[in-house]
Amino acid sequence: MYINFWYPICTAEELDQENPRFIEMLGVRLVAFRDSKGGAHVLSDVCTHRGGSLAKGKVIDDCVQCPYHGWSFDGEGQCVAIPSMGDSKPPARAKVDSYPVEEKYGVVFAFLGNLPEAERPPLYEVAEVGQEGWQVSGPVVFEIDAYFERSVENGLDPLHNEFVHPAQGAPKIESDQFEVEDAEWGSRFIVNFGGYTQAEKRQKVAQTSDTETEGLNAGSWHHGPNTLLTEIHLTGNNDFIQYFYEAPLSPSRTRIFFISARNNTLGAENDDWIHETYLKIAAEDIAILENLWPVRTPDTLTKELMMPGDAPVIRYREYLKDWEKRGWRIDLKALKRGKGDTAWAIPCPARRESGNWVLDPIPLVE
Ligand code: FES
Ligand SMILES: [Fe+2]
Repeated sequence: MYINFWYPICTAEELDQENPRFIEMLGVRLVAFRDSKGGAHVLSDVCTHRGGSLAKGKVIDDCVQCPYHGWSFDGEGQCVAIPSMGDSKPPARAKVDSYPVEEKYGVVFAFLGNLPEAERPPLYEVAEVGQEGWQVSGPVVFEIDAYFERSVENGLDPLHNEFVHPAQGAPKIESDQFEVEDAEWGSRFIVNFGGYTQAEKRQKVAQTSDTETEGLNAGSWHHGPNTLLTEIHLTGNNDFIQYFYEAPLSPSRTRIFFISARNNTLGAENDDWIHETYLKIAAEDIAILENLWPVRTPDTLTKELMMPGDAPVIRYREYLKDWEKRGWRIDLKALKRGKGDTAWAIPCPARRESGNWVLDPIPLVE
């Protein structure tokens, strides 16, 4: 699990204006709430007084109020009132981490990390939103008992289709049918079924809005550690783009926010059966993913036997290593040792400007 990326926190619908919402992910506890203008906020859930869960409290005057002794924290994470202290100003240390939020496509996303805005890996956009001739649907949300990296790797694995997805025609793909190329904050592969040259293929797939695409190709890529995209271009006006935003709830459970776009069978009345079809395919993947061992990918490539067709997975792991070297990887073993004894917070951007925070930052791999 990695800090310094955008993560889906909950759906827009799951966050009403009355109740704060508890979310545990990436080894920390978070609270999300809405202010009176509808703006969403995501904070560390642990009250800096004596560890109350802010999510069990109430939203009052655009603040979340701790249920234990009534301390109120605003959307910036600043404590603005301590009832037992009358009108005195709360001390500077009375604050919790607050994360940048973007609400898009019916999902509340938060940037869980402390990078300044200019350095943040961007949230991957759903390019088809608002484009004529495209229908965007979702989010459809589901949870799986698997580590999120295993799930992303499954999307980066063209070889499994032949065995896991018989109902989709069990497409047989061999390692020489694709190559891996780098994209911004990630890498991708494209399998060509239609006899195009590599360059034509790239151009066609880059233009996801090109409804004239006659090509027959499909590809996937990852953006950051937890966003996975798949494009399927069938002949004619039959293009399907899938976006999977993955939230690592724990080192063994993942919540997936799925958004899909298509330029055919338009009309929201088609959403249900299309989602059903997608979820049926996902169930075939999940049955495999929930039984992988070890649950998390081994620390070195030598503990699995990689073949040329695993190139997209290998490239993904190289990116993860790079992010680990930047100091963004959460130390899961330290997390396990401290469970129940230590409350950590993922450091928020404000920690760069001020010190004096009550919770220690989450342990990271050195
Ligand atoms: S624990 Fe939150 S106000 Fe005391
Ligand atoms: Fe699959």
